Amino acid sequence: MQAADISTLESVALDATRDAAVAAYAWVGRNDQDAADAAATSAMRAALAEAPGRGTVVIGEGEKDDAPMLFNREVLGNGHGPDFDIAVDPLEGTSFSARDLPGSLATIAFAESGTMWSPGPGFYMDKIVVSAAAEGVVDLDDPPETTLAKVAEALGKKVADLRVMIMDKPRHEELIARVLQAGAAVQTPAGGDVGGSLAVLLPDHDVDLLLGVGGTPEGVMTAAAVRALGGGMLGRLAPQRDEEAEAIRAAGMSLDRIYDRDELVAGDAFFAATGVNGGALLGRPRVGDGMTITESLLITRGQIRHITHTTFD
Ligand code: FBP
Repeated sequence: MQAADISTLESVALDATRDAAVAAYAWVGRNDQDAADAAATSAMRAALAEAPGRGTVVIGEGEKDDAPMLFNREVLGNGHGPDFDIAVDPLEGTSFSARDLPGSLATIAFAESGTMWSPGPGFYMDKIVVSAAAEGVVDLDDPPETTLAKVAEALGKKVADLRVMIMDKPRHEELIARVLQAGAAVQTPAGGDVGGSLAVLLPDHDVDLLLGVGGTPEGVMTAAAVRALGGGMLGRLAPQRDEEAEAIRAAGMSLDRIYDRDELVAGDAFFAATGVNGGALLGRPRVGDGMTITESLLITRGQIRHITHTTFD
């Protein structure tokens, strides 16, 4: 059977991230991350209701933090078009937006129906993300020193010239120390590993790889962008609490299995994001003078589009 063409859904994905970003922007800097998340989520849900097709949320963000969310297995769309899979985080970087620190994004990925990996009850996964030039050389079982050496060789660089993105979390203390000890430079944002992964994938950023444990929805969305651009990604469930590990085992899933990019997203896929409060990747919405201007990114097979969109009131 021929796979459905999901490219007809690109504008809906962009509308959804744009609406979510503008809704969340009203809450930026108001120290209320739940209100920001709720505003983004309901704007996104309303936009997706119009999607010309039938989208199933394979992995939505929110459960791990008990935050407002699009629910796993929730079905959205008007039914008149292809079936498709959705991975979504309407507000990626909620705490940044609450404190008006740069880096929060409204994010979504679509893939051909039945091709997105479901992490089941897993909230966290270990990840490596590299650009196309280092695709296929990394292994999550390697020690970080070996990973750095392999990536450096694939990129034609010295380890000392590598820049590595690792979120600044207590669980990464040893990893960060070892990467620094090996001679690479490390960028340690407080959170936001979708943005961190995009910095690896986009040619106008100078990050060579992303390492460490982050959320599973963020991982699946990232895999859609990685697949579209031919980069490399590996992931493995990495529960952070005993109950999470038990739930994964009870669901019959392995804690050892490493998933590659094409297992995380096995079909045609694309990724969209809109900036919520500015940062290196995308500017914040500008609202006033009878118009709203937003900055978005659309990553489809072999293409990166940076879109400035103006809506008049
Ligand atoms: P939110 O959308 O929940 O704010 O996610 C931000 C984030 O930093 C992600 O980028 C990352 O994958 C995840 O949180 C890591 O979770 P934690 O902060 O619990 O370590």
